Amino acid sequence: MKLRAALVSVLGLIFVLPMVHSQMAFAAGDPARGKQIFIKCQACHSVEKGVNKVGPSLYGIVGTKAGQVPGYSFTDAMKNSGLTWDEATLDKYLANPRQTVPGTRMVFSGLPKEQDRQDVFAYLKQAGGASQ
Ligand code: HEC
Repeated sequence: MKLRAALVSVLGLIFVLPMVHSQMAFAAGDPARGKQIFIKCQACHSVEKGVNKVGPSLYGIVGTKAGQVPGYSFTDAMKNSGLTWDEATLDKYLANPRQTVPGTRMVFSGLPKEQDRQDVFAYLKQAGGASQ
C-alpha cells in the first residue's frame, strides 16, 4: 500500500508540474483578453498575413524589426527607428506610440494599462504563430 501511495504521488508530480509550469508561462498575458483589446487596433490593423490597412499587417510582428512589413509604406520615422518588436519594446511603444517613435503616422493615444499591453502582446504572439 505504501508503495502504491508513493507511486501515485510521483505520478501526480509528473502530471501536475508541467501544468503549473505552462500556466506560469501564460500568467503575464492573456491572449483571449488581448483579442478583445485588439478591437481598438482593428480599425487600422489586421493580423492576417499580407493584409495591410491604414496600418501594416501585424501577422508575425513579434520579434521582427520595425518598418519591414512587405507592401506597406512606412514613415521614415518608423523605418529608421532601429527598434525590434520584442516584449519590452512593444510594451513601451503601445504605452505611448508617438513618444516612443516621434514622427510615426500611427495616430493612437496608447494603452495606458500595463495588463492591457501584456494581453495584446500575448495575442500578437499567438496571432503570428510564434507560440505554436
Ligand atoms: C488610427 C490607426 C491605428 C490604430 C488605432 C493603431 N495603429 Fe498601429 N500603426 C498605424 C500606422 C499608420 C502604423 C505605421 C506607422 C508608421 O509608419 O510610422 C502603425 C504601426 C504599428 C506597429 C509597427 C509595425 C511595424 O511593422 O513596424 C505596431 C507594432 C502597431 N502599429 C501596433 C498597434 C497596436 C497593437 C494597436 C492597438 C493597441 C495599434 N497599432 C493601433 C495605425 C494605427
